[in-house]
Amino acid sequence: MDNGTPETGAFFERDRAWHPKAFTPDYKSSVVRSPRRALLSLENSPGEITGPVFGHDMLNENDADLIHNFARPGESALGERIIVHGRVLDERGRGVSGALLEFWQANAGGRYRHKKDEYMAPLDPNFGGCGRTITDENGNYALRTIRPGPYPWPNGINDWRPAHIHFSIFGHGFAQRLITQMYFEGDPLIPLCPIVQTINDEAAVKQLVALFDKAHATPFDSLAYKFDIVLRGRRSTLFENRMEGN
Ligand SMILES: [Fe+2]
Repeated sequence: MDNGTPETGAFFERDRAWHPKAFTPDYKSSVVRSPRRALLSLENSPGEITGPVFGHDMLNENDADLIHNFARPGESALGERIIVHGRVLDERGRGVSGALLEFWQANAGGRYRHKKDEYMAPLDPNFGGCGRTITDENGNYALRTIRPGPYPWPNGINDWRPAHIHFSIFGHGFAQRLITQMYFEGDPLIPLCPIVQTINDEAAVKQLVALFDKAHATPFDSLAYKFDIVLRGRRSTLFENRMEGN
């Protein structure tokens, strides 16, 4: 059925070998974050499976334009201007409409607008670093931003995060929230990243890497990257909050 009714057909089991383990000591934070006890499966109740349904009317004009949504009038964020676009897909490759996407990232120098970020790179007064959009009827989305810079983090002695954008995807209920990170094709830091190294399968890593997409660049304005997100199924995108369990 492709008429917007909830999926009630075959259950697409997750491939446990595809997803990284929750406990991966080389990624230090996973030591305290990973569960110590066996997981429990809970039945969804109406509170988890109904509402909210997000609509385009809840968005502001510049919500998907990080170049301008925090900038002073007439100004724009510093950095390499890019478009990130793609589709949110279900396990059968069909577009998922009405999914709320939220994204957040560091500025071009690799610094977040966050009180706990003390990296020496300066804040950009015209860059806030977060935005949101909703997929259209075919599951398409697009945002404009600047390419974030890599940044060092206190894991090993000299560990750096590759340039990345954090994505959150909401379904039609509050329990249906998935979080992941998007990387950029060609970034030499990707294979060196302890978080990326928790993923055993090269194809699974590849799915987190947005491809350079010259065909969708806007002449004299922005380059483009393409990033599709697969919500379910054997080859779903890896989500940080779904490494184990459902
Ligand atoms: Fe980050």
